[in-house]
Amino acid sequence: MTSAGPLDGVTVVDLTRALAGPHAGMMLGDMGARVIKVETPGKGDDTRGWGPPFVGPNEEIATYYLSCNRNKESITLDLKSDDGKQVLTKLIEKSDVLLENFRTGVLDRLGFSMEQIQEINPRMVILSITGFGHDGPQTGRAGYDQIAQGEAGLMSMTGPNPQTPTKVGVPIADLLSGMYGAYGVVSALYERERTGRGKVIRTSLLASVIGVHAFQGTRWTVGKDLPKAEGAFHPSVSPYGLFSSADGLVQIAVGAESQWQKFAPAFGFEPNDPAYATNGDRVRNNAQLIPAINQAFSAYSTPDLLAKLNELGIPCGEVKDLQQVYEWDQVRSQGLVIDVEHPVLGQIELPGPPLRMFDGESEWKREHTAPPELGADNDAVRAWLGLDA
Ligand SMILES: CC(C)(COP(=O)(O)OP(=O)(O)OC[C@H]1O[C@@H](n2cnc3c(N)ncnc32)[C@H](O)[C@@H]1OP(=O)(O)O)[C@@H](O)C(=O)NCCC(=O)NCCS
Repeated sequence: MTSAGPLDGVTVVDLTRALAGPHAGMMLGDMGARVIKVETPGKGDDTRGWGPPFVGPNEEIATYYLSCNRNKESITLDLKSDDGKQVLTKLIEKSDVLLENFRTGVLDRLGFSMEQIQEINPRMVILSITGFGHDGPQTGRAGYDQIAQGEAGLMSMTGPNPQTPTKVGVPIADLLSGMYGAYGVVSALYERERTGRGKVIRTSLLASVIGVHAFQGTRWTVGKDLPKAEGAFHPSVSPYGLFSSADGLVQIAVGAESQWQKFAPAFGFEPNDPAYATNGDRVRNNAQLIPAINQAFSAYSTPDLLAKLNELGIPCGEVKDLQQVYEWDQVRSQGLVIDVEHPVLGQIELPGPPLRMFDGESEWKREHTAPPELGADNDAVRAWLGLDA
């Protein structure tokens, strides 16, 4: 599979499974890298079994697997066998990037420690993802998104109230590890242009969530104000959240004083009322302001309210389900739904890549391929390595 793009010519050996590592591989593939996914014979990536939903004539394909493996090739290798070790060694010789998200120590036991990999190929950029870190008192601890969302504090800040810790609706700790990981890989590839040498990049589910604590992190580290779940409202900006119209729900985000000056008179508030004059005043008085806004909004249907808010230039919107999202012409206009031809399922739609690349007016678009079937590229990859099928 070749494709001219920013990472054209970069070959990635992807030893990862589940979501964190595969997401990193998919991001590199989106940019044109060749990604060779190495899977356990007979079983493959764990996500091949993560369902329902399963699709296909015999319900054999997990839609979970389809979410994070576009634009890859699949080979099966028993990494505990001589043959598997030989093929992996050849792959390392001929590749630029290696991704792994085993427990700490697994690769060393297989005979592919970081040092051994870099001895085989000093230019190799290695991304290594763990649950909680490669060292420290809890190294080696297995990690899945559910656990990381709780242990990294995310669940304590999410949900309707502090008594109901809630996880984000997508495995955000996994996805962030993959995203930070891909960012590390691209940075190391850039550095390699200068130094001629690869690097080992380490991240974890724990690190990736802390990496996005943002204002909630400094709220605690500096302000000693402990964040807690506050539903669909913002702890530091107001009015900012989910409100009710006469017939549904409407979101508003009044993030600037100039917006408040327009919003307030349009809905019966005195903009310079001392209770609401500044953002800080409004946040402190949210207990009165939120019901008062709901009261004002109850005079409008959702479409009328959104039209009025849009006319005023107030950032606003609905709460859409995924059917509405994927049918939305704005989503489709951004290339956020792609068609791929799957050998069993025929043409299927997948969520598309979130980055677009332009050279002047001309947009680079890669030709996307469907997530591969287990071992689909065994022969082709072995032939490329100069090995018998
Ligand atoms: C994901 C995770 C929880 C899975 O744990 P696990 O099922 O116990 O898997 P491990 O990584 O410990 O590997 C299990 C075994 O499979 C073996 N294995 C993996 N791929 C193999 C292959 N292709 N051929 C032969 N053996 C293979 C490993 O060598 C290891 O064997 P060992 O225990 O004898 O050393 C764990 O790997 C982890 O915490 N990873 C880091 C965080 C992460 O990425 N989590 C997933 C987020 S989506």
